Amino acid sequence: MKDLSIRTSHFYESVIRNMTRLANSCGAINLSQGFPDFDPPKAMMDRLAEVAHNGPHQYALTIGAQNFREALSKKQERFSGIFYDPNKEIVITCGSTEAMMASMMAVCNPGDKVVLFSPFYENYTADTILSGASPIYVPLDPHDFTFDPNVLEDAMKQPGVKAVVLCNPSNPSGKVFTRAELETIAALAIKYDLYVITDEVYEHIVFAPNRHTYMATLPGMRERTIECSSLSKTYSVTGWRLGYVLACERIMERVKKVHDFLTVGAAAPLMESAVVALNFGDEYYSELAAHYAHMKELFTGGLKNLGFNFTEPQGTYFVMMDISEFGYKSDTEFCEKMAREVGVAAVPGSSFFREPVNHLIRFHFAKKDETLLESLNRLESLKKVMGK
Ligand SMILES: Cc1ncc(COP(=O)(O)O)c(C=O)c1O
Repeated sequence: MKDLSIRTSHFYESVIRNMTRLANSCGAINLSQGFPDFDPPKAMMDRLAEVAHNGPHQYALTIGAQNFREALSKKQERFSGIFYDPNKEIVITCGSTEAMMASMMAVCNPGDKVVLFSPFYENYTADTILSGASPIYVPLDPHDFTFDPNVLEDAMKQPGVKAVVLCNPSNPSGKVFTRAELETIAALAIKYDLYVITDEVYEHIVFAPNRHTYMATLPGMRERTIECSSLSKTYSVTGWRLGYVLACERIMERVKKVHDFLTVGAAAPLMESAVVALNFGDEYYSELAAHYAHMKELFTGGLKNLGFNFTEPQGTYFVMMDISEFGYKSDTEFCEKMAREVGVAAVPGSSFFREPVNHLIRFHFAKKDETLLESLNRLESLKKVMGK
């Protein structure tokens, strides 16, 4: 038989989704794949129940339902101060996952290069390769996740580079890029005429005193930033698969075409049910941030009490823990054994790094108090079970 696609041989099956399968099969608490175990806002669920009976149930406009795009445009302007024309500069996608894929396919030609920070959210490598481009990795220091501007410039000035991807707040590191860091990236993007494709799905999960700055708000960046985000994390609806791209019309013309042929559109009943959430007042977002700050304190406070080392998350719902003390050569072996014998599943950090880093594992803490407390309870035996 003829060969299958060479592109798909350049990346692996998702390590995160493999860990979820393992957690399910051995009854471990799944702190690997990041999704909440609590309900979305009641108003969304109530609206969903109404929509189940009243519709819409057929295809929406491919760029997304009119009322959804208008509500999103207002919400975005409220938080970033930037107005995106709902008819020309917004497209609603099946999650931020599709938003990123459509954005990459819209800007990359075969042979182009895309700069990724390492550690990175695992989809970016696959997205880059699927769009015909190849990744160039810029390392973030595994202790505090800062970058060397000279190394970044060396990467961004290479021939064929088209875009840089920025995950901010960042999965897996929990880093929130400072304004000064964003200015460095923006200045280089302008200098070398590159697009910046941002993934800002954790924009509302930031721990004080850190603050989220939208890349598109920096001078000169509105025209070259392609912002991807979604409702998954902000409203605890990872299964609704509602995401979006925000970009100027020139770019959006291309993104729309890719989106149209990739998925036709996001789910009409779910868009209709989510409009109520896009209209929530500011108190919803401050309560969300406070709720996540509580979960972070509970879980990372527990890790600290148990004597583990980790980098304090500045945003997102992830924490990277250092497992050097256990002396394992393979973090994957460590995570598999921990899931089976301690009953808590985490993601081996090596799946996020290009460099040979295998002393970190990633937990997520978007869980009810009782789930986090039970996880900490189980982790009490970690040193005994995993010690060599
Ligand atoms: C950084 C990042 N981007 C995108 C996604 C996926 O978002 P969505 O559910 O909107 O596709 C995730 C989910 O974990 C994520 O962590």
